[in-house]
Parts: sequence; structure tokens; C-alpha cells
Amino acid sequence: MGNKWSATPSFTSEILNDNDDGEPPDISGESTLTVTVMESKHLKLDTVLGSGKHHGLIRVVNTFNAQCYTKPLKFDNQAWFMPKRRFVFVSSDPEGEIRVSLSQNHLPPLPAVPDALTTAGSCCENHPHGSENCGRQSPKEKVVLAKMTVPVSFVELKQAKHIDRWYDVLVPGITNQPGEVPQVRVSLDFNYQPSRAILSVDSLMQKYVIEDTLGAGVSVVKKAVHKYSKKPYAVKYLQKTVKGQNIPRTALDNEIELLRTISHPNIVQLYETMEDQTTIYLIMEYVKGSDLFDISDIIGTLRPASVAALLLPLLSALSYLHSRGIVHHDIKPENIIIDYSQNTLKLIDFGSAKLLTASNAKSQEGAVSGTLNYMAPEVLMNMRGARNLCDKAVDVWSIGVLTYILLSGVHPFDSGKSHENILNRIIAGKFDFKSGPVWSKVPKECKDFIKRCLLIDPKKRSTVVELLKHPWLVAAKVPQQQQPTGKRSSFLSDEECDRIVKEKTFHSTSRTNTMGSLLELFNDGVSRS
Ligand SMILES: Nc1ncnc2c1ncn2[C@@H]1O[C@H](COP(=O)(O)OP(=O)(O)OP(=O)(O)O)[C@@H](O)[C@H]1O
Ligand SMILES: [Mg+2]
Repeated sequence: MGNKWSATPSFTSEILNDNDDGEPPDISGESTLTVTVMESKHLKLDTVLGSGKHHGLIRVVNTFNAQCYTKPLKFDNQAWFMPKRRFVFVSSDPEGEIRVSLSQNHLPPLPAVPDALTTAGSCCENHPHGSENCGRQSPKEKVVLAKMTVPVSFVELKQAKHIDRWYDVLVPGITNQPGEVPQVRVSLDFNYQPSRAILSVDSLMQKYVIEDTLGAGVSVVKKAVHKYSKKPYAVKYLQKTVKGQNIPRTALDNEIELLRTISHPNIVQLYETMEDQTTIYLIMEYVKGSDLFDISDIIGTLRPASVAALLLPLLSALSYLHSRGIVHHDIKPENIIIDYSQNTLKLIDFGSAKLLTASNAKSQEGAVSGTLNYMAPEVLMNMRGARNLCDKAVDVWSIGVLTYILLSGVHPFDSGKSHENILNRIIAGKFDFKSGPVWSKVPKECKDFIKRCLLIDPKKRSTVVELLKHPWLVAAKVPQQQQPTGKRSSFLSDEECDRIVKEKTFHSTSRTNTMGSLLELFNDGVSRS
């Protein structure tokens, strides 16, 4: 067993004015990657790294942004360290690699270096940065002893994945004993935080080609194609001022702060944020498909089996959020996107979401957020001066409204009259299964499911976990798994998919938007939450 040593390069989010002063950067709240070389097998680490006049080099290539960096290792207190250095880490690519190589410098005489092991990488030719950063030198002076390529997906990176593996090391001039290939053990630890760089709008344009509008509520969401990787993203434009009024910074940051902590297959991923004087740009996962509003608008009513297939992943996302104390507060068809070709459902729009903790519960009493038509009675009561603490049960209420709409094509409390009328009907919890011809054909389990969600008393409502165990959804799981091969979507029929693609538009006037409804109703200023 060889000596132990460690190297700790720090990767941080976009850093401006990097002056490479050799001092550890302030990386609190920033993305970090820690590379630690733990130990070696069948050789001493001194042999790998050299000592005295031969110094070891560590080179880290981060393909998430195609930048590379090489530094001599420093020996201190029994351990080898890579001095911390600022690193641009933009992470706009869902798949990437972290490559780490160990090498020696000034080690004469050197044997020929096999091509595959030289460090001359495409990275340095392709990307603008000072050549001094690459540490690229003539192969005569530098030999790569170990190369490690670690494929990492963005999601793994965000989940703070720890990777710990042994890698073979080639040491020139040393003949290995049979069966004794020298190895080093390297661990990578990710601590990802989306970038919060203050940039000009030019930076967005430099990096992305902005294409069509994907949708709009209070904010506009556009498709953006990353210029380097050609991958599509969705950019949400959060305006800092709406109707002449400044949105409080805490309200703008809320969506970002919550999304950056979340990682779930049915919740949209936030990759990075940019900001200029007027706007914050959220660069998110692009979901190719339609939101449930368009789908329900075009199809009219969905079959109970389709609605159950949609509720399962949606409730799975909500169960994840609720277990973390997060209430979405704005569950509605416009905030659920379906990629029916991939059979995926993603919950979006955390503009109204709240993290409820024991310490902030008091300050949340009386709060109002969401979209009028989907708000629970206790939220609406707060509009009339009550001091209710609105917790996870508000999402369950909205699930009830959503389910009712998907099955029948009509809203349980909206009879086409005024906002005030809807508000009164919601507070009274008055709804029935008579409107429209469809209800006579809807199985009683579906109606029971809705009734358990639309109870006026939040304490009596089912929880999301209980809803997942509801007989309607439990029974629905079976046919979903026995999906006939060749059928395009487990959510919809092939004919329905075709109709949506043909008729899709997001310009419908009946779309509801979060702030819009509240502003119209009260016209008393702007608040996102
Ligand atoms: N990641 C995405 N991929 C594809 N389309 C998206 C994405 N995010 C949002 N959209 C589309 O843009 C619309 C508006 O997005 P979002 O709900 O986040 O904005 P908003 O202004 O906060 O809406 P609201 O008024 O409901 O608060 C969505 O209804 C959806 O159609
Ligand atoms: Mg929305």
C-alpha cells in the first residue's frame, strides 16, 4: 500500500474577474467538485507523483463546460494537494464527463508515450482560455501516468453523487510484477449549485440561440438551443418589474432556491440561471410535448384510465415535494407538461411554491398564493383576512379540481359567472357530479377520489400518500404496465396524440395565470407568493 495523498480542486459556478491569485476562492454557496486521490496499490504514490525536482501534476477536464486546468501538486502535511482555483462551471449539458489525469513533469529520460495516454485534448483547441491554464507541454517533458474518465449525468451531479474507484496507472521505467498492475484510488464528490451569475443579456445570446415561445403565464418561456452542444433547453424569463411594480427579490428568488434543491424524474430540472438588469433567466430542462391545459382543451374529456395514468407520476412528484416540506401551491393543467411520445410527465412552475418549516410556519400564516380556480378554501379565506397556515393539503385540493376538469372538461366551481362567484362557491365547497353528460359514465371510484380531495376541512382531506393507495389508482397500475407494444403513449390514444400535435396552441384565452387572476380580482399590487 502506498502513501496517501489528496488533491482538492474546487469547481465553482460562473466566476467573473478570475485573477488566479493563488488564494482559495470563496466557494460558499457555489458548485464544488472535490477530487481526492485516496491511496495506491502496488506502488508508492511518490513514484507516481515524483519528489524533489520532479513534480506531479493533476489535470482536470470538465466536459460540462469543456474547460480544463492543470496545476502542480503541493505536498503539505503528509498529503498532496492541488491548490484551489476558480473554475467556470456552467453545467448546461445534461450528460458530461469529469476527466482526471495524473502526470509527471521534467522527468528525463522518458520512454515514448503511447498516443492514447497523452493529454493533448480537443478541449484546449476548441475553447478560449489562456494556454497557461492548460499546462500543455511537449510530450518530451510530461508523461501522463494515470487517466480517469468518469461519465456523469447532470442529475447525478445535482444529487451530490460520490464516485470512488480504482484506476490503473502506467509508470514508465517500472516493470510490473505479473498480476500487479499499479492502481490509484480516486474519489469525486459533487456539490452542485446552479450558477447565479449576474450577466448581461448578451451572455444568454452568446450561449443559446433563442427560438419559439413554448408557453406563457405571467412569464414567457422560450425554447433555447445551446450553441455548443446543440441541445434544447427551456428558458423562463422572470421579469423583475410587472405592470410598473418591482417584484420583491425574495419572491423572484423563491422559485430558483426551491428548484435548485429538487431532483425528481417528474419535476422539471433547473440547469442554471442568468440575470441582467430587468430579467432573471431560468435555463431549464426542455420538455417536448404539451401542457395538460392544451391536451384537455383539445381532447375535451379524458378517459378515467388516462387520468389515472397521469395522476400516478404527478402524485409521485408531489409526494417527493411534500416529504421535503415543499408545497407546490399552483397545481393546475398549465403547470403539468406531458411528453406523450416519451410517456413522461413533468411538474413545472415553482413560482408560488413554499418551503414550510417549523421555524417559518408562523410567518406563513395568512399567506395567499396560487391560481384562483384551483385554490383551496383555506387559501381563499386568507384573502378575506383569515390567518390560516396553508400546508400540503392545498395541493390535494388542487388535485381534486384538476381531476374533475380532466374527467369532465368543466370546472367544479366555475359556472361562468364572476371571480367573486367562484370564490364563494369554493369557500362553501359546493360542487356536484351533474354538470355535463359525462358524469353518468365515470366510475364511482373516480368520484370518490375527487370527494376525498375536495373536503373543506384540510385536516380531513386525504394526503398524497393516501391518494396513491386509492383503489382507483391501484387498479389503474395494472393495465399501464401491460401497455400493448407499439402504442405511442400510455397516457393517450394514438388518435388523441395526433389531434394534439395538429391543433396545439397556447394562445387560448381561457388559460389561467397565477398572478393575473389575483391582480384582476384585487388589483392591489403584485405578489408572486
Ligand atoms: N421546461 C419547459 N418545457 C416546455 N414548455 C415549458 C417549460 N416550462 C414552461 N413551459 C410552458 O410555458 C408555460 C408557462 O410556464 P410557467 O408556468 O413556468 O410560467 P408562469 O409565468 O410562472 O405561469 P403562471 O402564470 O402559471 O405562474 C407552461 O404552461 C408551459 O406550457
Ligand atoms: Mg404556470
